Amino acid sequence: MDIYAEEIISHYEHPHNRGKLATANAEFHDYNPVCGDDITMFLDVKDGIIKDAKFDGAGCAISIGAASMLTDLIKGKSVKDVEKMGVHTVVDMLGIDPGPARLKCATLSLKAAQKALVSYSRTVT
Ligand code: FES
Repeated sequence: MDIYAEEIISHYEHPHNRGKLATANAEFHDYNPVCGDDITMFLDVKDGIIKDAKFDGAGCAISIGAASMLTDLIKGKSVKDVEKMGVHTVVDMLGIDPGPARLKCATLSLKAAQKALVSYSRTVT
């Protein structure tokens, strides 16, 4: 198996940062209507920085693996940096291009995190 695929499977089998975050002040539940996979992202944001991040939900190996990796990636990042992340960020993070069919799986958690930040911004501005 490809080393990058092994990394995704490892995150899927042993996800980092899974569960609810008691200190979250931003959260968003998103899902893929095609397959039913769902992800809720919980973020603890302070002074424009993601202090902590967790996720909960169920999904395929790529969606859960990506959510696990993403929560590791965005901790300590600024809100602005996370808002600027896109498909290229997810592809770099995974180490593979998941292809058009699995792109929604791979980006589900990033979209949820970004939507959580939109709702957070509305509450602080
Ligand atoms: Fe549903 Fe991957 S099969 S997000």
